[in-house]
Amino acid sequence: MPRLPPSLFWKARQQISPFAPILLPVCRTLDSAANELRWIKQHVNSTSSLVPRKLRIWQACLKRERGMPLQYILGTQPFGPLEILCRPGVLIPRLETESIIYHLSSLIPRPSPQAPPLKILDLCTGTGCIPLLLSSLLFPARTQITGVDISPSAISLSRQNLTHTISLRHLSPSASKSINFTQADIFDLKFLPSLGYKPSELDILVSNPPYISHHGFNTTTERSVRLYEPRLALVPQIHPTSHYNCEPEDIFYAHLLEIVRTLQPKRVLFEVGDLDQAARVVAMVVRGKGFLERYARNVEVWRDEPGVGLEGKAEKMWVGGNVEVEVKGQGRGRGVYFWRE
Ligand SMILES: C[S@@+](CC[C@H](N)C(=O)[O-])C[C@H]1O[C@@H](n2cnc3c(N)ncnc32)[C@H](O)[C@@H]1O
Repeated sequence: MPRLPPSLFWKARQQISPFAPILLPVCRTLDSAANELRWIKQHVNSTSSLVPRKLRIWQACLKRERGMPLQYILGTQPFGPLEILCRPGVLIPRLETESIIYHLSSLIPRPSPQAPPLKILDLCTGTGCIPLLLSSLLFPARTQITGVDISPSAISLSRQNLTHTISLRHLSPSASKSINFTQADIFDLKFLPSLGYKPSELDILVSNPPYISHHGFNTTTERSVRLYEPRLALVPQIHPTSHYNCEPEDIFYAHLLEIVRTLQPKRVLFEVGDLDQAARVVAMVVRGKGFLERYARNVEVWRDEPGVGLEGKAEKMWVGGNVEVEVKGQGRGRGVYFWRE
């Protein structure tokens, strides 16, 4: 990354504020530094403290200079129409996740008011952003959603997020009854029976699991992510009892497919890191035995913006030399979606 000229620091000080030069190395441009400083000031103004205002702005700018993500400093991140609380120790919701969840919701036929609520399970829920967004898009009264995470901090934050979104009126109060968050390790043998679903009863299984390799984490992940976001959320921890024959970064998908085999949900969406990982996950679905055959003909790969068309050109991917799968949208490979007949 090129070094910034001293004149830019001088301009930041003269044109924006004495705090702006602190933000420049991480923001890189005057516009971006001005925006971040405005958000930091708004945040400081909206929170009460005995510490003087200017000192709090300065402290926030220093945290940012050290690379702390802005969402951890401001304490929130927009996710669709929702405001999601963010805390160090829990992964910050990403725009790409929001985009594939919007697309998923656009494919779900709206149940009639008399129909039973759609049963939805989100494994590896983090802040709870996926259950909360799906509830807001598909309506709390028409959904029954469970979010699961191994991390006590994530579960505590997801519950706070449920209360927070209701208190902001982003979700109706009935969401407090139709969404619940449970702490569990999805690799634990007692986990699935504890949920109490009968086979084929689940409408949607969704998961954005840890999916980055150790090498990718050390070489390609941004410094601020490596330093401040939880590794547990990003790199799969190899479970002592795991017996899967796959790349270490794909281990959650192998296990999630065991869960699909048992629960046989109507629709499944997994977030993935790129097209190569998407191809490996598709191969696991189409070659899978024992009920996975029910999904094998209905598999799609989604890019970051799966709803953005390519003007009539359908993009295809060949998996294992003989299975053709449609790749939808624009951007990086981001999701694998499949459904049963
Ligand atoms: C990539 S983050 C996704 C968070 C959230 N769904 C989102 O999209 O922002 C993965 C999450 O998986 C959780 N996790 C890691 N191992 C787990 C396990 N064995 N069982 C359940 N959750 C796990 C982490 O705590 C983390 O919150």
